[in-house]
Amino acid sequence: MNLSLTNVCKSFGRGSSAKLVLDNINFQVNSGEFVALVGSSGSGKSTVMRLIAGLDTPSSGSILMDGVPVKGPGPDRGMVFQRYSLYPWMTTADNVGFGMRLKGMAKPEVQERTNYFLNVVGLAYAADKLPKELSGGMQQRVAIARALAADPKVLLLDEPLGALDLQIRESMQEFLYQLWSRTGLTALLITHDLEEALLMAQRVHILASNPGRIVRTVEADLDRSNLSHLRVSPEFLSLREDLAQCLRGLSQELVTSS
Ligand SMILES: Nc1ncnc2c1ncn2[C@@H]1O[C@H](COP(=O)(O)OP(=O)(O)O)[C@@H](O)[C@H]1O
Ligand SMILES: [Mg+2]
Repeated sequence: MNLSLTNVCKSFGRGSSAKLVLDNINFQVNSGEFVALVGSSGSGKSTVMRLIAGLDTPSSGSILMDGVPVKGPGPDRGMVFQRYSLYPWMTTADNVGFGMRLKGMAKPEVQERTNYFLNVVGLAYAADKLPKELSGGMQQRVAIARALAADPKVLLLDEPLGALDLQIRESMQEFLYQLWSRTGLTALLITHDLEEALLMAQRVHILASNPGRIVRTVEADLDRSNLSHLRVSPEFLSLREDLAQCLRGLSQELVTSS
């Protein structure tokens, strides 16, 4: 699998009111990679996601999945958003099985895959619960199971942990990282949280705002065998501070130029 964005630009509006939101975005995600895109609010992160998801089209440039241009939404890209997107009237199991049923998969197979992916996210015991009976973290795990059950080539995560409390967020970061390392999935994480990106992703792109553009790319080659140790290790903290300064520099530019 190879997802590639080449010279992707996106403007909203026309004529003199046109606003350039993404300026020449270039990056790739290959099979088995966990890549992150970090930027502050309004830098264009969700716009990048929507373009990759095929919910909107670039003004110029190309987005290819295995060499084929993205023309619209498709099952090869699984999405998880910040807002819990579960159907409130369906049980956990029915939420996970929804896409498979829609595709006309036979009932026994839907059941088997649902059980399998509920196990993967550690929620087999909650199969019959409704979303309102689950914590925010658990709901996001159901959303992840649902995305994985559709067997996407790449999992697209747009601030998936953004609505969670700090403690739950930390345990979910560990959960997501373990999930990635166990299953070998391919993931693109979009977040404003630098620490989160560095904890999980092997490659981190920093997105500046107005217009959104990649200003720095880091290969975060860190020992991730113990994420709670990694969080406080000198190597991690100095890399995080270095990139935080880069992000702060960008917001400083904004203050002085406006
Ligand atoms: N459909 C749209 N029409 C006009 N402007 C938009 C639209 N979608 C996003 N924008 C603008 O693009 C910029 C980036 O938005 P977004 O991609 O949501 O950023 P982020 O996800 O990083 O917070 C913002 O200034 C936003 O107002
Ligand atoms: Mg967003």
